[in-house]
Amino acid sequence: MKSTIAPFPAARPRRLRSSPALRAMVRETTLTPDDLIWPVFVRDGEGVEEPVASMPGVLRRSVDLIAKSAADAQAMGIPAICLFPYTDPALKTEDCAEAWNPDNLCNRAIRAIKQAAPDIAVMTDVALDPYNINGHDGFVVDGEIVNDETVEALVKMTLAQAESGADIIGPSDMMDGRVAAMRAGLESGGFQNVTILSYTAKYASAYYGPFRDAVGASGALKGDKKTYQMDPGNSDEALRLIGRDLQEGADMIMVKPGQPYLDICRRAKDTFGVPVFAYQVSGEYAMIKAAAQNGWIDGTKVMMESLACFKRAGCDGVLTYFAQDVAQALQG
Ligand code: PBG
Repeated sequence: MKSTIAPFPAARPRRLRSSPALRAMVRETTLTPDDLIWPVFVRDGEGVEEPVASMPGVLRRSVDLIAKSAADAQAMGIPAICLFPYTDPALKTEDCAEAWNPDNLCNRAIRAIKQAAPDIAVMTDVALDPYNINGHDGFVVDGEIVNDETVEALVKMTLAQAESGADIIGPSDMMDGRVAAMRAGLESGGFQNVTILSYTAKYASAYYGPFRDAVGASGALKGDKKTYQMDPGNSDEALRLIGRDLQEGADMIMVKPGQPYLDICRRAKDTFGVPVFAYQVSGEYAMIKAAAQNGWIDGTKVMMESLACFKRAGCDGVLTYFAQDVAQALQG
């Protein structure tokens, strides 16, 4: 696209910025509730909600309250909710069997949401870390995160989630070959319409710190995730991985973290033209909240601007802990 402009004063670009009406007319992208996916943390018990210290305003909720929150979100026009379980440490093992237990926290929450809010899409996270005694997304054998054995387990986990009613499967583990294996499993299991939103360009990032507290994985994690998550210095590699995941049967792809990686979102959209999502991760959320609590920024305005920027960068939507606040702000 070529941008041309007349010489001054024939062109005075400020004309189009001179009133709210004109600015609204020429705005290239807008944020709507349709753009939001709301990640939530599930814990056991009934009628329980507890704050996550490193993420002010975020709660871990028991299944009954998650179902209620999903109904609220649906009423606000939020199209999807994404579940993350806070697993009882006693259920974390080396073989991660709780991950494909049909009655684990995540699968119970899926069923409860489907009852309470049948129109909201339920997304899940596929990775072994909530169930792994050492906090990794894959099995650890002699200090190595093994790929192919992990993929087999991830397929079992995927099928248990699909059987519980999940609409969107979100593999966040970064193993090779997982999307093809999951797609084949879903096809032969009779889940042809279950979609895969692959965490394709997922970087080994320090921005995930507060999340690991929220799901109780930070104490467990030994070492780092650099042998499977991407190097923050890489951009072309993200495109190779996106191309691969699309060929393996992903319906949508994700870039994660979000705001520091907007260049990857733009390249992904321009190169492939498929639905691209970003994850505004826990550290991004915590930074905005902390600065706002100190009175250093206007928290609501920065929240809205940060999300609008994802649209400008080519994203079709954003996973954000702000989802309810944003939907409310857009309504009011
Ligand atoms: C686990 C997973 C992580 C996040 C989503 N799924 C953490 C990790 O990879 O260590 C991070 C989300 C966030 O920081 O908000 N596979």
